[in-house]
Amino acid sequence: MTSFWSGWIIVLTLACLVVCFGLLVWNLKNYTHVEEGESMGHTFDGIEELNNPLPKWWTYMFFVVFIWSAIYLIFMPGMGTWEGLFKWTSSNQGIKSLAESAQAVETNRAEGKYVQLDVENVKAEERFGPVFEQFAKRDILDLAYDTDALKVGQRLFIQNCSQCHGSDARGQTGFPDLTDKDWLYGGTPAQIKETLLYGRKAAMPPWGAALGEDGVKHMTAYVLSLSGRKVNDKDAAAGKAKFAMCAACHGMDGKGSLANNLPMGAPDLTDNIWLYGGSAGAIEATLENGRNGVMPAWKDILGEDKVHILTAYVYRLSNPESKEN
Ligand code: HEC
Ligand code: HEC
Repeated sequence: MTSFWSGWIIVLTLACLVVCFGLLVWNLKNYTHVEEGESMGHTFDGIEELNNPLPKWWTYMFFVVFIWSAIYLIFMPGMGTWEGLFKWTSSNQGIKSLAESAQAVETNRAEGKYVQLDVENVKAEERFGPVFEQFAKRDILDLAYDTDALKVGQRLFIQNCSQCHGSDARGQTGFPDLTDKDWLYGGTPAQIKETLLYGRKAAMPPWGAALGEDGVKHMTAYVLSLSGRKVNDKDAAAGKAKFAMCAACHGMDGKGSLANNLPMGAPDLTDNIWLYGGSAGAIEATLENGRNGVMPAWKDILGEDKVHILTAYVYRLSNPESKEN
């Protein structure tokens, strides 16, 4: 905020208070020609207006409110860039990255500012940090069958993951279902943990230019045929002839990166499970424009301990059977 606007807000706030205060004091004096309790000479539908003073309790309450607002304005922020003597704020504003956030916490601490959210975070860390730490020492496969760990994991999932993967973790278009056993990057505890810690970026290039309109149509037919759909055989054969350009990521058999020991996260095209939809139109759109799904990295946001518990939760989602079976 520039100092002009800050000054403007301060002037408006103070002027408003002064005017209200003046109005109140003025109303307490009897400036009219009639005596207190006498008629003012106005009648509305038979109701007569008398010259009565403001009730005392109401007036005193108003004065208390003025005193309160003065104290509030001195100690709390709110007038322009005035920070208030307490230097209190609810949270750090205008933060764009984790680094900025960490920096803001440091600066505020050095300047003795009271940032409520930071203080609450520290308290939560003190209280729950040891709980997470205990869980983090245990094996993921062990946690995946521990009711308490799963409850914690579910909370973390609802807060951090459900907006993309859904609260039931079944995903939506572009966001994978985490409850099936169809993995882009692998479903072992180590693979899931790596996905969560460092995030994943998918790079499916656009093929519209390389394949041309007919080429896209033929390739779509071939892709559909891989999961057993009825297609024009000639089109599919033409697509198959060009599938080598896809094999680097999807494998020559189309079964995806994982099945072919590749790291790209390219989905299995033969299982009829679709990230972006399995209609001819959706596949054509995928081929024309490419797809770039991004799974964010959580290491710096949640920390390793929470990621450890979440890994167990995600693992269990697709391994619902109990350990004994
Ligand atoms: C902003 C949206 C978003 C959020 C939030 C998000 N994810 Fe993801 N996640 C994705 C996308 C998109 C992918 C698929 C990436 C791709 O297309 O390759 C993905 C992939 C994954 C995978 C890999 C699935 C596979 O088949 O290998 C796992 C596991 C996962 N997410 C778990 C989580 C967990 C746990 C959280 C919460 C801590 C989370 N995600 C939060 C968008 C998100
Ligand atoms: C450089 C690696 C790479 C190449 C080459 C590649 N793909 Fe992909 N493909 C991917 C990745 C990664 C994804 C997942 C995109 C995402 O998760 O956002 C994907 C996704 C897809 C999908 C969407 C699957 C779904 O479940 O919705 C189709 C269909 C597909 N590719 C077909 C092809 C075809 C056909 C070719 C060859 C013309 C091809 N791809 C070449 C990496 C590749």
